[in-house]
Amino acid sequence: MTNKRYAKSIKFDNDKLLDNNFSELLLSLDNKIHSGEFKVTVYGLGHVGSPIAAAWLRAGASVIGVDKSKLILHNAREGKTHIPEPGVSNAYEKGLHNKKFFVYDDLIKASQDSFLKMICVPVLAADGTAELSAVKNVATAIGKGLKKNDVVTLNPSVPPGTTEDVVIPILQKQSHLTVEEDFYMIYNPERIYEGRAIEDIEERYPGIISGYGKKSLEIGTKIFSLIYKKGIISMSSIKSGETEKLFEGVYRDVNIALSNELAIFSERLGINFWEARHAANSQPFCNIHKPGIGVGGACIPVYPQFILKTAKVLQVDCNLTKYSRLLNNSMPKYCVRQALRLIQPKNIRNSTITLLGLAFRGGVSDTRLSPTYDVIKELQKLKVKEIRIHDPLVKKDNFISNYINTFLFNELSEAIKGADLIMVIADHEEYKKLNNESLKNIALYDGRGIINIDNIILDKYSSIGNIQ
Ligand SMILES: NC(=O)c1ccc[n+]([C@@H]2O[C@H](COP(=O)([O-])OP(=O)(O)OC[C@H]3O[C@@H](n4cnc5c(N)ncnc54)[C@H](O)[C@@H]3O)[C@@H](O)[C@H]2O)c1
Repeated sequence: MTNKRYAKSIKFDNDKLLDNNFSELLLSLDNKIHSGEFKVTVYGLGHVGSPIAAAWLRAGASVIGVDKSKLILHNAREGKTHIPEPGVSNAYEKGLHNKKFFVYDDLIKASQDSFLKMICVPVLAADGTAELSAVKNVATAIGKGLKKNDVVTLNPSVPPGTTEDVVIPILQKQSHLTVEEDFYMIYNPERIYEGRAIEDIEERYPGIISGYGKKSLEIGTKIFSLIYKKGIISMSSIKSGETEKLFEGVYRDVNIALSNELAIFSERLGINFWEARHAANSQPFCNIHKPGIGVGGACIPVYPQFILKTAKVLQVDCNLTKYSRLLNNSMPKYCVRQALRLIQPKNIRNSTITLLGLAFRGGVSDTRLSPTYDVIKELQKLKVKEIRIHDPLVKKDNFISNYINTFLFNELSEAIKGADLIMVIADHEEYKKLNNESLKNIALYDGRGIINIDNIILDKYSSIGNIQ
């Protein structure tokens, strides 16, 4: 299989000159996108799709937004998004006003009415296997509305081979068209950091473009140059494009695992990990990441699983990736044990514990795979009396309502009042300001190492990597 793909990329370099029709299409792209003749449909207006739709609107394109959620469609029609992503609502509002933003609930019609179709629906991992049902649904609808010369891009992070083995066959079957001859297929991974997504797309990183063949790559590069100001990195194959995105996530996961390992080591040694890290990172070849109570979100915990699943098929040992995932997964339990050392063992069942942060990290409202859920499960096993949760950006949560002793608070001061122990889980800005006055002598475990220890009583405090 690998050799065949390699052969394809060699042939690809020797392709003959592009035909005239295709050259004309390339030359007219800019004008047709700006005039609205060529519309862009974004399937899935979530954390990735909504800033992408906004970026296209800001670039002057006409955009059709599609989602399966009625609420998201309703909000979009009002010029709003449920995601606190700077610039998105503003772009929607302007787009509606200028008649450049259209919101459809008919997925097939959205494909019929557009030239570029971007698949931005989620791919999570169920037991290490990619959950591709949303991608397959959308690809089926796109295929039914696909026309000659259309362009389709897959954007979520996926196991290597997904675009060619899953998406293209669906598109071809539904449309009776042939990739590269009749339509063009691109894989373009999204590389955003939630909270600054539009800036990331437009200014911060180059776009990664891979195409099924030479024409797909050529047209993808031309189209995406319109939004990625940092330019385009063209990949020699779709599989390389899919894999590079997984590398980005694995790199983070493995490096966070290393810092977790060194933080635990420092705790046993009786030194302050953070001090050692600061000194070590002053040397240019050392970049020790921040340790923490858990790695959450829809990306970093998921991508290593795609690599591991593929590695199993290929019979390659990826032990570092595997061990890192296990270590990072074990951190919520480890941190709960460390935190509970701050209160008397006999008092645990009578204790009220406040967890600060339900989002998977600070500055976002996204709770997917948040370590806070694992902390709650651990505390439930230990039968603590009451669990309180505060998050400045999360105001309701279905998981919490499964437990009668677990509550989500709006006010930080209320969540803290009378608690026996506070655990910092997400690094939201407002938690960094906690001090003696706000803590009122309550024990504090800092699972992110964000509290300024000059502002608190040290005999009731410990943090990851710094046990007093
Ligand atoms: N969130 C990130 O920071 C991030 C960063 C880089 C890459 N990614 C990748 O992007 C993918 C998408 O992530 P996201 O964070 O945007 O997810 P999300 O859940 O925020 O958004 C996905 C949207 O797709 C919609 N949807 C789901 N199934 C659908 C269907 N069948 N038809 C139409 N709409 C459907 C959902 O209603 C939702 O609004 C992830 O799986 C990940 O691989 C995410």
